[in-house]
Amino acid sequence: MAKRALLLPGDGIGPDVMEAVQRVIGALNAAHGLGLETQTGEIGGASIDAHGVPLSGAVLDQARASDVVLMGAVGGPKWEGVAYHLRPEQGLLDLRKGLGLYANLRPAYCFSALADASSLKREFVEGLDLIFVRELIGGVYFGTPRGIDELPDGQKRGFNTQSYTTSEIERVARTAFELARKRQGAVCSVDKANVMESGLLWRQTVTALAAGEYPDIALTHMYADNCAMQLARAPKQFDVILTDNLFGDILSDEAAMLTGSLGMLPSAALGASGSPGLYEPIHGSAPDIAGKGVANPCAAILSLAMALRLQLGRPDLADRVEGSVAAVLDAGLRTPDLHAGPGTSQTGTEGFCDAVVQAIQ
Ligand code: IPM
Ligand code: MG
Repeated sequence: MAKRALLLPGDGIGPDVMEAVQRVIGALNAAHGLGLETQTGEIGGASIDAHGVPLSGAVLDQARASDVVLMGAVGGPKWEGVAYHLRPEQGLLDLRKGLGLYANLRPAYCFSALADASSLKREFVEGLDLIFVRELIGGVYFGTPRGIDELPDGQKRGFNTQSYTTSEIERVARTAFELARKRQGAVCSVDKANVMESGLLWRQTVTALAAGEYPDIALTHMYADNCAMQLARAPKQFDVILTDNLFGDILSDEAAMLTGSLGMLPSAALGASGSPGLYEPIHGSAPDIAGKGVANPCAAILSLAMALRLQLGRPDLADRVEGSVAAVLDAGLRTPDLHAGPGTSQTGTEGFCDAVVQAIQ
């Protein structure tokens, strides 16, 4: 049976990069028998404009009926300053929660052609290959109570709740341990157990699970502030970094930048086996360059590669897509966000995608 992908371009440069993804899918269907059917839906601001909500029940149902969901980006100045439940970002949070996507895989690897594009010296990033496993549907993003209330003295008070249960920690830790078994076998679990009870439970639970079920894994623990420092000091010390929703959000942006551009890195959000995963670039909607034809399509195209490998049963095509992106970079093609050294030439979204499609064929 043909596999089905739901494409959610979203806002800002989302539609720009999803168009590139659609062309890559077309090339894989035509030249390599992928047989992936696509449908398109709205999310984020695009959905607010069309349906009045950032994610409609109909689109969530469409997502549930798909094998994979590929998203562009959400958010933009047009929808700022309104209640949280009516913001574009809420559409993404609802989609993650609605599909039960508790484990967010965010690799940070350095293409050798881009080792000089990093803000760190080449020797610190060349060969970098680490991956975050970020908890995605718990913690302070979803904890209650939350809100802004008024105090008797007339001040206001904003509050959110960070909370994790044993089972929430165990299931995402399992994902990290299983992944590490296919890599270097090392997991660094990141928390703030020195100041937060939720962090203490995180550390105790991860430690107990490793001792009981994953004695072969080299498990270490690190405080989140130290991890931020270590990522900038010596990022190659890491293999798998396991962390919570908020720390994972922050630290994965930091790690992404080490690889040269936020525009390079893909991600996969996975839930229970059998449920569709959500594949999206790590970068945001970049409203300042939206529709200008200059967005870097790599992260979105590489997210498709993750879907091919993890859920569409075509690791061969994942290799081909990743190899094609690397070949185009090696040949010197660069979108404007990427470091343009000697021997490189600049192009836009379409020009880069043309070259990738050609390499795929
Ligand atoms: C990310 C983004 C999202 C998050 C936003 C858009 C809700 O920053 O995927 O990292 O905070 O998770
Ligand atoms: Mg983020």
